[in-house]
Amino acid sequence: MSNALTRVAYAYDRLRAYPPEVAGRIATALSHALLTREEPVLLELGVGTGRIALPLIARGYRYIALDADPAMLEVFRQKAAGVMRKVRLLLADAREVPLPDESVHAVIVVHLWHLLPDWPRALAEALRVLKPGGVLLEGWDRVEAEAECRLQERWQALVAEEGFPVVRGTHSRRLKEVEEALRRLGLRPRTREVVAWREERTPREALEALQERLYSFTRAVPQEVHERAMSRLWAWAEAEFGDLDRPFPVEKRFFLRTSRLS
Ligand SMILES: C[S@@+](CC[C@H](N)C(=O)[O-])C[C@H]1O[C@@H](n2cnc3c(N)ncnc32)[C@H](O)[C@@H]1O
Repeated sequence: MSNALTRVAYAYDRLRAYPPEVAGRIATALSHALLTREEPVLLELGVGTGRIALPLIARGYRYIALDADPAMLEVFRQKAAGVMRKVRLLLADAREVPLPDESVHAVIVVHLWHLLPDWPRALAEALRVLKPGGVLLEGWDRVEAEAECRLQERWQALVAEEGFPVVRGTHSRRLKEVEEALRRLGLRPRTREVVAWREERTPREALEALQERLYSFTRAVPQEVHERAMSRLWAWAEAEFGDLDRPFPVEKRFFLRTSRLS
């Protein structure tokens, strides 16, 4: 596996990690949604480096960790090394899940739908593999940070100057589309805020996240355009913020949407 791919996976892991107490609250909310007398089997589609999965695995759940990116799964595997007994890694596409019908008690999906233009295929797969009475658990973060927003908007303006207008907001639009699809199928998705917290981030970390293209809205821009925009953005940020290592506040919230099959 290329070092560059693993480096991006490690950057994702470092820059998107939850503080331990937040990770614990999220794991508790997810486990409360599992109403089964059997030992539950959980499947996560697009598990990434395991920030949702690992606290659940540590609580002893049987977990199937699916991802299409070998670098993400490799970082996940290294992090889960001591607790792998009940974990199965699946290098696979969420739109073609290699599991039998009605084989899991819960399907967890966090920050995946917006990456899949043909998300209905992945949703159909999630519902196919769920047992009757099983639950689809969709989670997402909402992040508010004025300084980070300014950096992202500046990056957007710089690539637009080069003829690449970038569309943002796919994530929340997609969540609405999925919710409508679930209602059309007769399910009753319920959403609640699980936890709100405050973190600090430096402009340097925000720039790194953009540089490594950790946000899906950066992915459609050609590499050379991205690199030119980034070198102008670093210069702009130094003039704008002065000290790139002085932290700014970030308000974060995690939401959970629960849909139970009858
Ligand atoms: C934004 S990350 C979210 C990871 C994790 N759920 C989290 O919240 O930290 C999206 C993940 O979905 C994976 N992914 C993207 N397209 C996929 C597909 N078609 N099938 C399975 N995984 C996919 C990516 O490799 C990445 O690990």
